[in-house]
Amino acid sequence: MSHLPVMMPQALDALNLQDGGRYVDCTFGAGGYSKAMLDAADCQVLALDRDPSVQKDADALVKSSGGRVSFQLSPFSGLEAALQANGWDQVDGIVLDIGVSSMQIDQSERGFSFMRDGPLDMRMSQSGISAADVVNQLDEAGLIRIFRVYGEEKRARRAAQAIVERRQQSDLETTGQLADLIETAMGGKKGRIHPATKVFQALRIFVNDELGELAALLLVAERMLKPTGRLVVVAFHSLEDRLVKTFLRQRSEAPSIGSRHAPVMDRPEFHPSFNLVKRGVIVPDATEIKTNVRARSARLRWAIRSDAPAFDLLPELLQMPDLNALEARA
Ligand SMILES: C[S@@+](CC[C@H](N)C(=O)[O-])C[C@H]1O[C@@H](n2cnc3c(N)ncnc32)[C@H](O)[C@@H]1O
Repeated sequence: MSHLPVMMPQALDALNLQDGGRYVDCTFGAGGYSKAMLDAADCQVLALDRDPSVQKDADALVKSSGGRVSFQLSPFSGLEAALQANGWDQVDGIVLDIGVSSMQIDQSERGFSFMRDGPLDMRMSQSGISAADVVNQLDEAGLIRIFRVYGEEKRARRAAQAIVERRQQSDLETTGQLADLIETAMGGKKGRIHPATKVFQALRIFVNDELGELAALLLVAERMLKPTGRLVVVAFHSLEDRLVKTFLRQRSEAPSIGSRHAPVMDRPEFHPSFNLVKRGVIVPDATEIKTNVRARSARLRWAIRSDAPAFDLLPELLQMPDLNALEARA
């Protein structure tokens, strides 16, 4: 199935595309967002994706765009280098439609889905450690931590124990083997949701370092957006959305009076680097959810860059949710 872009009208609206503007689409996928951005204004787009399988579609768009699009095969953490390679220092907007594309889910050989049997892979970039490496090599405590933190799975210990016991006979090789094992360990299927859903989500987040990548992107976006530039993020699971929400809330609020930062509050680097025009989250409308099942869990947040300097050299103000804090909450 081809990929149906999620929350595209809302994302374009938040980006506020202008003629002559420079915009980054950090999640090219099937190019839906990039193409719509080109149609919305006479702007330039730098598109990024870490998945080499999108290269063909990206090349076609670059070719047909008359010099308005360029593409870099890069993870979020390579955004600064990608901008430099493109000769851009500052940009007018950055958009992310994170998560897995329909193409990635639908190709069983990519190993993202427990609905389709394939190798336990899950690597968006098609390189580095795979889900099979993790389930066959990581110790039980490590597996428990991943399932708790990244899957928010209450029965993390049970899932990890079942994996460790099973791999004493032979390695787990396929998504089907892992899904069946977890289903049995969890006592079978009870509701609509497959019992392996959270374990699969956790492995995917870990294998692709999804939260680390997003945190890196947010910091670069803060440095590279022009004043009045827009940051627009569509997230698909609560951990990502929480990270975006925490980041934007922190960057849009001055440190509270009475905090230990109070004596230096007049320094410009303590002024909010983003303005949150809409404080709450934006969700898809009912029609989109009905026609595109992927839209169900989408959450959009956006903010406008102020002219204050980036906070990035002030680690005590970052307070990104760290793994230990997440684990304690899980
Ligand atoms: C949901 S799809 C984007 C779909 C796109 N908006 C469209 O309209 O076709 C997400 C894409 O982001 C890419 N992606 C996810 N995390 C990434 C990361 N950290 N760095 C670069 N690309 C990433 C995935 O490989 C995937 O192709």
